[in-house]
Order: sequence, then C-alpha cells, then structure tokens
Amino acid sequence: MQPQAIMQPTADTPERRAFYTKIDKQNLTPLWLSLAELVTPEPRSACRPASWRFDDIRAYMLEAGSLITAKEAERRVLVLENPGLRGQSKITTDMYAGVQLVMPGEVAPAHRHTQSALRFVLEGEGAYTAVNGERTIMHEGDFIITPPMAWHDHGNPSDEPIFWLDGLDIPVVQFLDASFAEHLDVDEQPITRPVGDSDARYGANLLPVDHKGGGGSSPVFNYPYARTRDALERMRRADDWDPCHGLKMRYTNPITGNHAMATMATFIQLLPKGFSTSAYRSTDATVFVPIEGRGRSVISTRSGEDFVVEWNKRDVFVVPSWHRVRHEAAEDEDAVLFSYSDRPIQEALYLFREDGGNA
Ligand SMILES: [Fe+2]
Repeated sequence: MQPQAIMQPTADTPERRAFYTKIDKQNLTPLWLSLAELVTPEPRSACRPASWRFDDIRAYMLEAGSLITAKEAERRVLVLENPGLRGQSKITTDMYAGVQLVMPGEVAPAHRHTQSALRFVLEGEGAYTAVNGERTIMHEGDFIITPPMAWHDHGNPSDEPIFWLDGLDIPVVQFLDASFAEHLDVDEQPITRPVGDSDARYGANLLPVDHKGGGGSSPVFNYPYARTRDALERMRRADDWDPCHGLKMRYTNPITGNHAMATMATFIQLLPKGFSTSAYRSTDATVFVPIEGRGRSVISTRSGEDFVVEWNKRDVFVVPSWHRVRHEAAEDEDAVLFSYSDRPIQEALYLFREDGGNA
C-alpha cells in the first residue's frame, strides 16, 4: 500500500478567506492550509540530484586564482550549490560543499568557528592543514577534520596548486542559530606539536592512559588515503561484497566508535571493476566524490525519470534524501568513492531510515 498524504486540500470559501486575512494581521495562520506540505508521507526535498565535473571546477578555480588571493578571500572556494537550492550555499538541504584552491606559497589564514569541516584532498601533494597547533601534510584522497572551534589554517609550500573538497555543516549551524567565528591575529597559528602527534596518540589502537572523555570529533584529524586504501585492498580478499554498497566503510572516532564527526558521516567504498550495486535509498542526502576509477550512478527521481551521472575521478555528485541510487564501476578499472552526509544527526534523532530493496 502506498502511503497517502495525511489530509486532502480544504475548500476555499469567501468566508474562510476573509477569516485568514483577518487573523493574518495578528501573525496567525491556519494549519489546515499547510499541514500537507509540512507533514509529508515521504521526504519531499527541494534538493535535486546534481553533478559537477572536476575539470570544469578546476579551470574556474585557476581563473579565480588569478583574480583573488587566498588571504584576501579568507578562503578561495567555489561553492557547489544544489540547483534546487540556489542562492543558499547548500549542496543538500543541510550540508555545504565547496572546492578550495591554495596556490603555491599561499596561506589561508587561521580562524575558527562552530561549524565542523571536513577536507577531502582532490589534487596536489605537500600542502598542510594546521589544527590546534599541529600540522598535517595533505595527500590526494586524505580525509582531514577541522572540529568545531578548532583553530585552523592551510598553507601550500609545494610548487603545485592544491585542490580539496570542503564539506561543512554550515546549514545545520545556521538553522540552529549557533554560529560563532573568530580570526587569529597572525596568518599561521603557532605550532606546538610535531607532525603525526595525533595519529600516534589516537590512531594506533592506543590511547594515552589517562585520556578522559569522548568528544564529538575524532582526535585523529587526518585519515591518510594510503592507509584507507590498503585496508580496502586487504578486505577485498574476503570477497564479501554488499549488494548495495560493494565494500563500504565508515570513518570512525577511535575513542567512541561513533562517526568521526558529530554532525557529518564520512564513508569510503570500493566498487571492483564491473561491479553494479542494487538500488539503495536512505534519508541522508549524500555527497559522493570518486577518487579512483570511472563509472556511472543512476538516481531515480520523483518524476520517474532517471538522473544519470557519468563520473570520473574527482567529480562530485549528490543523491537527495530517499532517492534510489545504483552505482556501476567501469569494466576495466576499480572505483573508490568517498561520501558524506548528515547521518549522525539523523541517527541521534532516531530519524534515519534506509531501504536496500527494490520495492
Ligand atoms: Fe574555516
């Protein structure tokens, strides 16, 4: 049985309309006119399936690189706006995405804010992100966390431009009216700990003996791709493929076992060459970034028409809430996809739903 709307439209009469006009002056409005739009039988989002080609973004970013410095821009970023949510700096209803460029020799100056940020390195090697007094060196495919209110700056001492995807919970913080931000009076924050310190303390299945508390963000703030990729490669030998996901892992906070960030879930998934997934849908609209391989994803839309994304490495595409998606890796190449969503929020609020069937 298909779910139905919980109420049918009400009749419009001159008396009712006069009543609505009268109460409007008192900032009152009848629920029966908006109930069906507010409490829908299924998720009904303005967010649309969409995709961006990295080659296009890259060319525009380099153009932006000659127009404005990272310092003047604070962050030289092009925002990926969902076509159904233009003008709102949103890639989904509650998530933000942008591509950031730091040119050789530049520094994106130190600041901090309540918004959480993830970085997924798309192209370039040897730049750094500094978080709370520690630098981490950025390599392609690395997943790096900037926790809420952590000082962070980015610098590029290499001789190549570096591009990464920024994923932030900006719309969530905006919705909650909980934004605070401040700027440090120097571009680069003082470095107080050696490179790799957090990884040694928290990323080796060990914790400092007196470590207390969990915290919402993982203290491991760089998940290097080399290690992630190696884990996927070793797991594939078990030949244990999920029909909907291939081989999909979530990044975790080693202290709590929860998602690595409080508001955003992050995932990495291997689709071996020629693998086609079954249809899957979930309530967390998801942003995908292939970092290896080629393929296509077929997203079912409410109108019944499929939205097909032919993706290459570094492209970005978005699957809205409760839209079925199937992924196919090219016949001649394995594919690896990074993705992120608001799943921790939905799980905490007992709202998360998924459906791996075709019904
Ligand atoms: Fe920032």
